[in-house]
Amino acid sequence: MKVLSVIGARPQFIKLAPLSRILRKNHQEYIVHTGQHYDYNMSQSFFDDLEIAAPDKNLGVGSDTQSAQTAKMLVRLEKEMIEYKPDVVVVFGDTNSTLAGALAASKLNIPVAHVEAGLRSFNRKMPEEINRILADRISDFLFCPTPTAMDHLKREGLSEHSFLVGDVMVDALNYFSEIAQKKVDPLNRFKLTPKNYSLATIHRAVNTDNDQNLQNIMSAFLESGEVIIFPIHPRTRKYLQEYGLVDRIETSDNVILAEPLNYLEMLVLEKNARKILTDSGGMQKEAFIWGVPCITLRDETEWTETVEEGWNVLTGASQDKILSAISGFNPKKERSFSYGDGKSSEKIVGILAED
Ligand code: UD1
Repeated sequence: MKVLSVIGARPQFIKLAPLSRILRKNHQEYIVHTGQHYDYNMSQSFFDDLEIAAPDKNLGVGSDTQSAQTAKMLVRLEKEMIEYKPDVVVVFGDTNSTLAGALAASKLNIPVAHVEAGLRSFNRKMPEEINRILADRISDFLFCPTPTAMDHLKREGLSEHSFLVGDVMVDALNYFSEIAQKKVDPLNRFKLTPKNYSLATIHRAVNTDNDQNLQNIMSAFLESGEVIIFPIHPRTRKYLQEYGLVDRIETSDNVILAEPLNYLEMLVLEKNARKILTDSGGMQKEAFIWGVPCITLRDETEWTETVEEGWNVLTGASQDKILSAISGFNPKKERSFSYGDGKSSEKIVGILAED
């Protein structure tokens, strides 16, 4: 089987890593990186850590408006697909690279496999929601991480091509957590002790591009008194600077700003955190797997199981809700749901190879 994998943004490198390892045992893989993420910390550092082969091609698309970025990817991906002639194109998650990969392949009548299919936030203002709905609609293999995702696809008439395989991020976490423990020591680097700090990330447009939301979130962090390690996405840094918030954070005695961290350091910081504050989807799941209470800085989530099980609370950008969750959200209940058994990649490759 000749597989062309399309990646471009940080979480996709993590999802590719376990799948690529299994795939390459018996099949050929050609990796195309769209170039959506390009800073060392946002891209290359993941390849260094995650034992992924270097991309066969980097399309160098870079940052732009939603449509311009997606359009550039589409044109360049089509050329790669015509030249490589894959049996199947694999796309991951919900970024602009996902949609461009699925669209380019389907227009060439190449079967498309969507890893992490069926997720819905039901908020069409998010570019990711549009990307998910469209990628699912034109994909031939819909690999769902959860029964909820399967239900969404059933309701959209897409059951025939849906497969419940679990979450490839569990495969990645299982494989890399021991390696992380041996290879990196972020606690020492940032002078933190286990369960004496919280970990925060923010990168969603709803929080970064909105002055009031970002102000509220930062005020909650600063007023909480909680030691918070806060690795910042370049997009968030840009807006913190624009809104004049960087000085307030840098002079505070509880919020530690850091550059974006690699996957291994994030795993260690997540596992040892008292709480995780985030608007990332992947980190909500990772918090749940580690049994770390998660405070989600959004009004809705695709990972509803984490909330239903009592380990995730949605605060949006409300300063009061964030503050009360930092001090008072302490779930104790056992977690009964599982995002997978660490064998999702094997299941995906098995289904693709059988077809
Ligand atoms: C993208 C995905 C989002 C995913 C996130 C993971 C879309 C619509 N969004 O959001 O689903 O959760 O990746 O991180 O595809 N920038 C840099 N250096 C980089 C990359 C980005 O400085 O290497 C800055 C640029 O100013 C850019 C901004 O970040 O305009 C946003 O980058 P973009 O890739 O458009 O979206 P993300 O916010 O990263």
